Amino acid sequence: MKKVIIDCDPGHDDAIALLLALHSEEIQVLGVTTVAGNSELENTRRNARKILDYAGATDIDVYSGCERPLMRDLYRLTGAIIHGEDGLGGPHIPDPVIPIKDEHAVDFIIRTLKESDSKAILIPTGPLTNIATAFIKAPEIKEKVEKIIIMGGAVWDPGNITSAAEFNIYVDPEAAKIVFASGCETYLVTLDVTMKAEFFEDDIEELRAQGDKISVIVAELLDFFANTHLEHFGVKSCPIHDALCVGILLDEDLIGFEHTYLDVSVNDPLTLGETVADLWDITGKDKNCYVSKTVDRDKFVDMIKTYMKKTYKSKK
Ligand code: BDR
Ligand code: CA
Repeated sequence: MKKVIIDCDPGHDDAIALLLALHSEEIQVLGVTTVAGNSELENTRRNARKILDYAGATDIDVYSGCERPLMRDLYRLTGAIIHGEDGLGGPHIPDPVIPIKDEHAVDFIIRTLKESDSKAILIPTGPLTNIATAFIKAPEIKEKVEKIIIMGGAVWDPGNITSAAEFNIYVDPEAAKIVFASGCETYLVTLDVTMKAEFFEDDIEELRAQGDKISVIVAELLDFFANTHLEHFGVKSCPIHDALCVGILLDEDLIGFEHTYLDVSVNDPLTLGETVADLWDITGKDKNCYVSKTVDRDKFVDMIKTYMKKTYKSKK
């Protein structure tokens, strides 16, 4: 069983990442931690619980984390344009019944890793504020991290919030810098692949036609997501970025990675949040990151369709 903590800011693609993990028989979700990113924290922590409730995963706890980046104000504009004012625009999903836990997300991450008799996988699909704060507060937990699979950055292709930067890294570049320097085995699922694993209208219709409760709500979430992508980026398709991070745990051939040294631009306004990879080994620095390079879109689309049809079974 792969033990994971999903640190997210739902967000349409975060929601689908959660559902993919919940429906997998190989993944045990130890807890869901939330962070400000696509929307304010009060929205992201409610949206995470809405999704868990809707999927019947009421035995999984949700924790509320950092409400703003380490050193900056929360950048709000693009999150609202793409994900709606409450962070999860589109279908009506009932308000959650499960309460938010009192323990702070950062303390949950620290406690869970310390108490666990085996290592766990961290899957951050929003800004890296919670993970960086946990590493600062309790650096010893890094030894208990099996790997970190991050959605963020762009190496070969342009960014989506500026020409240089991708949203998650741009929102909290200092946190990202801390995580990349952590020494943990780190996988970065970048826009280079997520933008090529997009869902088209036909895929959404096939999902809807599956007819079960989760497939239908996901199709409705994707209707909204596809429309905001059309309005904002001019393309009638939508990339389910965050779900690819879970996808590689289900099929390791889904994404091809290149091992490299990588750092984040934090001082230059023009390139703020850019993930700069030393692909030609010019610096000679130790490689600290597996950066995504290739993706099998058909495999991913099939995976989403197959797993959305399944149902949640508790692994406690
Ligand atoms: C990332 O930003 C958010 O809008 C998505 O949820 C994803 O995590 C893509 O740049
Ligand atoms: Ca996200």
